[in-house]
Amino acid sequence: MNISDVGIAVVTGSSAGIGKVYADRLARRGYDLILIARRKDRLEELAQQLQRKYGVTVEVISADLAKEEDLKNVGEVLSNNSRITLLVNNAGTAEMKPSAQIPFDVIEQQMKVNAKAVSYLSLALLPAFLKRNSGTLINIGSVLSFFALPFSTSYSATKAHVMLFTIGLRDELADTGIRVQLVLPASTDTEIWDVAGIGVHALDPQSVMSAEDCVDAALSGLDQGETVTLPSVEDVSLWQEFDAVRIRMMNASQTGKPASRYKLMQKTASE
Ligand SMILES: NC(=O)c1ccc[n+]([C@@H]2O[C@H](COP(=O)([O-])OP(=O)(O)OC[C@H]3O[C@@H](n4cnc5c(N)ncnc54)[C@H](OP(=O)(O)O)[C@@H]3O)[C@@H](O)[C@H]2O)c1
Repeated sequence: MNISDVGIAVVTGSSAGIGKVYADRLARRGYDLILIARRKDRLEELAQQLQRKYGVTVEVISADLAKEEDLKNVGEVLSNNSRITLLVNNAGTAEMKPSAQIPFDVIEQQMKVNAKAVSYLSLALLPAFLKRNSGTLINIGSVLSFFALPFSTSYSATKAHVMLFTIGLRDELADTGIRVQLVLPASTDTEIWDVAGIGVHALDPQSVMSAEDCVDAALSGLDQGETVTLPSVEDVSLWQEFDAVRIRMMNASQTGKPASRYKLMQKTASE
């Protein structure tokens, strides 16, 4: 490894949308890449483009991260490659419908790709990052990590997992040289809206960001040392308030006794 080598960045879900833009931007920053998604033809085309454009080395892995065997194989590739310095857990899928209208196997697929794979791959790299006391982990959540629309309950639940897992890891690793960033995009113009059965054109165009703007803002957040980045939110104090209430609520729960509003009911029940 030469001294200017920034290493390899792994981007899951890089055959489209936000992941494809991450691949471009990270190659521009000099990273060699490992690109992961199911559609190998798209990955290979992107790999050739990026190799030509930036002179970096690009490996592609076709994997279905919802499949146990594929996930394990990718985990093994990641844990055995000491040149990997950055992982973007970006692959995601969405089905946006009222809960009772989504078959459970579709919900399970979302859980596997959006939640399980994010934890699995983060933890596959963590031992090597800890050993070197360096590395960057970027997990893509969503503003739906902290909000469920009437048609996003299960998707939101998977993204809530990403949020807590990532800020938990960030806190665990605060005294190390490992950087952890949670990115919470709002509506972004990508194919996921077709996958979700809605289509981006059904959204208010004013509320939709381009994938390029989303990734450029997220990387700017990373460069500025943010551990939580909300690309479209102007007033960053909103997250700070949310975070502060979360911590106050946790502290307030450590009383070991029922809150006084429940005491009357307990007394009535025992009489
Ligand atoms: N677009 C938005 O409005 C928005 C907002 C907030 C958060 N996000 C999040 O941003 C991330 C990127 O999504 P996007 O908007 O860029 O969507 P996208 O254009 O549909 O891209 C999703 C990527 O994930 C990959 N993927 C999906 N299922 C997979 C599987 N089973 N195994 C491996 N790869 C899989 C897809 O590749 P293959 O199909 O080739 O496998 C594709 O590369 C997701 O985590 C999403 O939840 C998006």
